[in-house]
Parts: sequence; structure tokens; C-alpha cells
Amino acid sequence: MIKEIVGIQWGDEGKGRASHYESKTASVVVRATGGNNAGHTVVANGKKYAMHLLPSAIIRDEVKSVIGPGVVIDPDVLISEIKTMQEAGIKINPQKLFISGKAHIIMPHHKRLDALYEEMKSSKIGTTGRGIGPCYAEKCDRTNLRMYDLISGNLTAQKIKESIKKANMLLENEQFDENEIYNLCMKWKEELGKYICDIQPILMEAHRNGKNIVIEGAQALYLDIDHGDYPFVTSSNPNASGTASGAGIGPTLIDEVIGIIKAYCSRVGEGPFPTEQNNEVGDEIRELGHEYGTTTGRPRRCGWLDLVMVKEAAFVNGLTSLCVNHMDTIGKLKEIKVCTAYKYNGQEIDYVPMNREECEPVYKTFEGGWDVTNIKKYNDLPTAAKKYIEFIEDYTGVKVKYIGVGADEERTIIKGE
Ligand code: GDP
Ligand code: IMO
Ligand code: MG
Repeated sequence: MIKEIVGIQWGDEGKGRASHYESKTASVVVRATGGNNAGHTVVANGKKYAMHLLPSAIIRDEVKSVIGPGVVIDPDVLISEIKTMQEAGIKINPQKLFISGKAHIIMPHHKRLDALYEEMKSSKIGTTGRGIGPCYAEKCDRTNLRMYDLISGNLTAQKIKESIKKANMLLENEQFDENEIYNLCMKWKEELGKYICDIQPILMEAHRNGKNIVIEGAQALYLDIDHGDYPFVTSSNPNASGTASGAGIGPTLIDEVIGIIKAYCSRVGEGPFPTEQNNEVGDEIRELGHEYGTTTGRPRRCGWLDLVMVKEAAFVNGLTSLCVNHMDTIGKLKEIKVCTAYKYNGQEIDYVPMNREECEPVYKTFEGGWDVTNIKKYNDLPTAAKKYIEFIEDYTGVKVKYIGVGADEERTIIKGE
């Protein structure tokens, strides 16, 4: 079985948690898109792990963790993440971690340009500042370095020279030094070279032998460069097709596409958010759900669940099921709202239009006040919580498979069991 985990809102829905959960029975897990703009949290065995580039399955010794070709890697961040995990007792070695040589490198000038572009803009995106956009842009320009370049033998003073020359043309007052960058690349090679390889044989062999593969998506549909709220998006395609492509697995081989949502919405950075509660309700959701970024520590903007997004995402991603996290959090509110349509140009619509800024949400109100933290079976959920879940299914036409009732992965209810 090949299962894909994708985000359906604006990120931070609990993809890391879901990927780790699914990896219980997997032989390979692949991170497929984005870079260390992602922050994936796993709470397991009484410990909390925060991952930015490593697949969540790195915690499991028996699973192969792959960083796929669609990922952009800041080698310094990866080196320090490997060290942190090793210090936490996680084994990491070349039999367990595999980095695609095709993955692109986030260079120091990408981070600088990311900051400068933000400074320059009157309407800021609120990027994570990790150099993601400039790195993907240079990848598309075909002048960037890939992980393979670190080990190819002819590391490539010439490539570095060309890449730096371009950056230096953009940067007027500060100039990057190609010798310094070369030395940095040599350090990266020393630390990461042993993990860099061709990943296709690992995936093809696992598939041939009927083993389970999990594709761990990052970001989310509404941060997608093509399908999100452009320009308030990231620079990759975290939809299900882009995620499969970033891993290197064809669409017809994928058995399940699991869309991860929270029972409410959050967003970091700028951009439209029709159901945002920029008020006491939003503050309450933020505190109940501890909605502060794993990557930047920024307080997340919070608001009601927007089912118009989820319904559209079900189609764009071809979802086979949903996972609804944070049912414990939202249940603490007495009254919960869900957006079921947008008022737009004098009409009610149930898709996400290009200028979503002009949409006004239409809400359905649900009774909350449930406590689900210690519940293990779907049938034992309070009626109000079941009504909420079943409405999500009816509205979107997608079955809910998993329900998160606490941050610890033990607190997962499998619907239908
Ligand atoms: P990701 O980027 O999609 O992997 O999500 P993050 O890890 O950035 O953010 C999700 C946050 O919600 C993390 O702090 C998780 O530990 C937490 N979380 C996930 N599911 C649940 C849940 O069902 N209940 C609660 N209380 N917390 C959850
Ligand atoms: P995970 O995988 C939440 C957002 C940033 C910003 C926009 C562009 O943890 O869900 P970028 O640095 O990518 O150029 O920033 O995208 N963003 C995320 N928000 N979770 C993420 O990843 C995100 N990755 C990018 O906040 O609004
Ligand atoms: Mg996150």
C-alpha cells in the first residue's frame, strides 16, 4: 500500500503526527516537498519531537526515512536536526536515512534574498525566512546546486561561481564570496555525503515487494503555488499530485490520499482567511490548541473550520479519507461554527474563488462543550462530537478515518473500528 498524507488548510494540521502514525506498518517514509519552512510535531512514547526536514518516521528504527527530490534542503539545518535527534537517542545512519541527490540545496544567498524580497514588498507574504522561495526559483532557473553536486567529485567550483555571480548581481551592497561557499559545501559533503544517494531503487523495491510506503506531505493545499491564495503561498506544489511527484511515485500507484485537517483553522503569515476570528474566540482557540509555530514560534491566526476549502480540496487532491485533529481542543468551546458557503458577488458559492478576500462566510452553528480526551472508540464519543464529524463527512463527501483527541499519537480514534 502507498499512502499519501497531505495538508488541506494552511499547514500545521498534524501531518507529522499522521505520517508517524501511518509509518507503524510502513517500510519506507518519504518527505516530498518544501524544506525547513515545515515544522512537524510528533508526540510519542511520552516524548515530543519537532522535525523540519527529517521524515517523522525517523523516530522508528525499522523504517527507512527518505528525503525526496522535491524537497529543498538547508544542509546546516539538516546537520543540526540529525544531531538533535541523535542526542535524543534516535539512531541515524546511512542504512536508515537516505537523501535524494536530486534534492536542491538552500544556499546562504537564498536566505538573504528571502529577507530582502520581504523587506521590499508593500504587501508582505510573511514567509518563514528560510530561503524557500529563492531556492525553488533558482531551481527553476536551472542554476542551483543539488545534493548530488556535493558528492559528484567535480564539485564544481564553476557551478558555485555561476550561482554566486547571479546572487551578487541582485545584492548591491553585500557580496557572497565563492571560496567561503566552496568551503561550506565541503563541510556539508563531509557531514551529509554518506546519506546522499539515488532513492528510486529503495521505493521501487519496496513497491515490488508489496511493502507499505508513506509519503509525508508538507504545507497544504491553500499554500500551494498553483492552488493556494497566490501570492500568499509557498513556492512548491504541496497538493497530492505535487507531493507524489516530489517523492517520485506515480498517481496510479497511490492507494490512499489522506487529507489532514484541524477541527478549526489556523494560518501563519499573511493572506486571506475568511473564517478568522481576530477576537476573543480566536485567542481562546489559540490558547486551547497551543497555536504557536513549530518553525518560527509565531502566534498562529485562528478561526472556524472552513468546509468550503475542505470540499474543494477533496476534489483537487482526490482525497480518499480525512483525518480530523484537535477535536479535544475545539470541544472545549460551548458553541462552534463551521463555514458552509461563501457570500460572493451577491451569490452563495461553495468553491474558493480567486479573490477570496471578498468572501463572507456563511456559518452553521454546532453545540460544543464535549470532553473527548480519554475516549478511544468512535461510538463512545459524545453525540455532539459525532454530529460534528458526520457533518464534515456529509458536506465534503469524504469519510473521516482518523480523529485526533490529543497531541499524543495514542490519542487517535480510528472511525469504523
Ligand atoms: P504539521 O505541520 O501538519 O505536522 O503540524 P504541526 O506539528 O506543525 O502542528 C500541529 C500541532 O497540533 C502540534 O503541536 C501537534 O502536537 C498538535 N496536535 C496534533 N493533533 C492534535 C490533536 O488531536 N489534539 C491536540 N490537542 N493537539 C494536536
Ligand atoms: P507545515 O509543513 C504553516 C507559510 C508561511 C508563509 C508562506 C510562505 O509545518 O504545515 P515560505 O517560507 O514557504 O516561503 O512561506 O507559507 N508556510 C507554512 N505555514 N505550516 C507550514 O508547513 C508552512 N510552510 C510555509 O508561514 O505564510
Ligand atoms: Mg507545522
